[in-house]
Amino acid sequence: MTNDSRRLSAVMVWLGVVAGVAMIGGRVVRAQSGAASDQAGAAKTVVIEVNLDKVAGKVSPTLYGLMTEEINHAFDGGLYAEMVRNRTMWRNWDGINQWVVVTEGNAAAEISGDEKTGPSEALPNSLQLKVDRADAGNLAGMRNEGYWGMAVRPSTTYRGSFYAKADKAFLSASGRPAVNVSLVNDVTGKEVATATVEGLSRTWARYEYELKTRAVTPSAANHLTLTVGHPGTVWFNLVSLFPPTFANRANGNRVDLMEKLAAMHPQFLRFPGGNYLEGDHVSERFQWKKTIGPLVDRPTHKQPWGYQSTDGMGLLEFLEWCEDLHMRPVLAVYAGYSMAQDFTKPGPALEPYVAEALDEIEYVTGSADTRWGAERVKDGHAAPFDLTYVEIGNEDEFDKSGSYDGRYAQFYAAIKKQYPALQLIATTPVKGVKPDVIDDHYYRSAAAMMADAGHYDKTDRNGPKIFVGEWATIEGVPTPNFNAALADAAWLTGIERNSDIVVMAAYAPLFVNVSPQASQWGTNLIGYDAIESYGSPTYWVHVLFGGHLGTEIVATTGTAGAATGGGKLFYSVTKDAAKGKVYLKMVNAGSAEQAVELDFSGGTAGRASLYRLTAASVTDTNSIAEPGRILPKKIAVSGVSRNTWKQALPGYSISVFEVDVK
Ligand code: AHR
Repeated sequence: MTNDSRRLSAVMVWLGVVAGVAMIGGRVVRAQSGAASDQAGAAKTVVIEVNLDKVAGKVSPTLYGLMTEEINHAFDGGLYAEMVRNRTMWRNWDGINQWVVVTEGNAAAEISGDEKTGPSEALPNSLQLKVDRADAGNLAGMRNEGYWGMAVRPSTTYRGSFYAKADKAFLSASGRPAVNVSLVNDVTGKEVATATVEGLSRTWARYEYELKTRAVTPSAANHLTLTVGHPGTVWFNLVSLFPPTFANRANGNRVDLMEKLAAMHPQFLRFPGGNYLEGDHVSERFQWKKTIGPLVDRPTHKQPWGYQSTDGMGLLEFLEWCEDLHMRPVLAVYAGYSMAQDFTKPGPALEPYVAEALDEIEYVTGSADTRWGAERVKDGHAAPFDLTYVEIGNEDEFDKSGSYDGRYAQFYAAIKKQYPALQLIATTPVKGVKPDVIDDHYYRSAAAMMADAGHYDKTDRNGPKIFVGEWATIEGVPTPNFNAALADAAWLTGIERNSDIVVMAAYAPLFVNVSPQASQWGTNLIGYDAIESYGSPTYWVHVLFGGHLGTEIVATTGTAGAATGGGKLFYSVTKDAAKGKVYLKMVNAGSAEQAVELDFSGGTAGRASLYRLTAASVTDTNSIAEPGRILPKKIAVSGVSRNTWKQALPGYSISVFEVDVK
């Protein structure tokens, strides 16, 4: 099976699930007998009473969403569809990263970094291509390998651009002084698409080109070359190439990854971090003003996960990402603390950062007659964005100086004064001001996650609301295995049951480029390389849970005691009265089959659909090579007799019932 056909079959199987047709190709393996304690548990039927007319609380309409930051090549080499790596010609001791000289036949040339000339104040440097000998049959230039390859597909138009200038020798060469741009297959060495750019001059200018493929085999084993057939010197910067993007946005996002996110039904996007917001040092924070406007005016920045960020995914791109997937922005603003214990004392010294945050909020929400609203309009987005939540900092419990109480209070006062309706999130409990929302983070083992699935059952309903802004079961590299998915699903039943107080929750990290040395974090939700992508088992939990969520929490009781079952059975029930639906999620994290009796009262349960995730073993998982190993299956519901249902939940299974109710 080729990678493409694997991807296609995974998508087909899932389309079968959502369309409600019989499943093909999926695999359910009954769990093996497990530990004695599991066996003992299996003997007992767990009775759960579902009181359809008893509402325990409202489900937060924003419950499921996404958390994102530049880590694991999440944007550069990930969602952000740019194909050229190091397009702005950063260099180190070895030369200009990712760029190598190319000479054909007897051509002679060298490339080097030139710090004295560049296309803009933000990009004052360039790559200098000095060609001593070249002609039409012996080209010279440079090549770029992309982010672990460049995805090329048949009959596709790729749009590119670069900034360049040339010297007199190059421009006065006989023939037409042109730059040839080609996508070249690594294996065959053949061009799969080519274009010619003419009209270079002695001064910096931007040039565009298009590369159109014909009937090529889809492959990531390609690189880009820029070559010339004349002696002389040419300087380049911001060499860019994009495939077709989601919603055809210029400077946009990878289609496959956006489609995967859309299937999760995310209601919000928390950005830009995470550690990426803070940076190791103040100067390395996410400086939003340097991430807007034309790419040539974005200087790029050093970020805490070990590679330079292009900032192609800038503030407006985050917002447009929200717009494309109908998500609300949860805007995290820099709050005067960076991770190397660089902190700014509350008071006058903090004021510039408060002002920076106020300007940022104005850029997001302001009308055209405000300073920063006008800037957004100039950047191409006339309409203001809706903003409800602003998060002040990230993980400020790590600030050993204890300055967060004062910093939060200062930001809170200034933002509330100008934007009283905004809900302000604190990253850790604070003294002095009562935050609207607190952001809790959890990275834990499967056992710890399951044991704490009832974490919010007893949370004070009069305190701040809760945002579980980052959470994950850390088991499985680079993406969670099925044991992690069981724990993640168990955890989410607790989140749903408490979604009157938990207003938002987001798994983290969201993305990982699985290519060698591309990642910095072990367990991540969605994996990809230059051309393929896949959802981990926990990704599929999110697709199922996010796609089957009511508006109200239904009261339940069970012989298992607390809703977490005190053992390996976890469940939550929500209903949507307007749709006449009840959604039951049941996680059997034990190895043995678990008998469950569901007793419905206060209404009549009717037709039901059942979606189930199981795996051959708890260490099983999905991968680039096998993206569809673990996928939800639609299963016929049996054991239904009026309002009493008897269900046998297979060992190691996650089940979602969608029930019509009257
Ligand atoms: O998700 C990875 C990191 O974990 C985030 O950047 C940070 O907020 C947390 O410590």
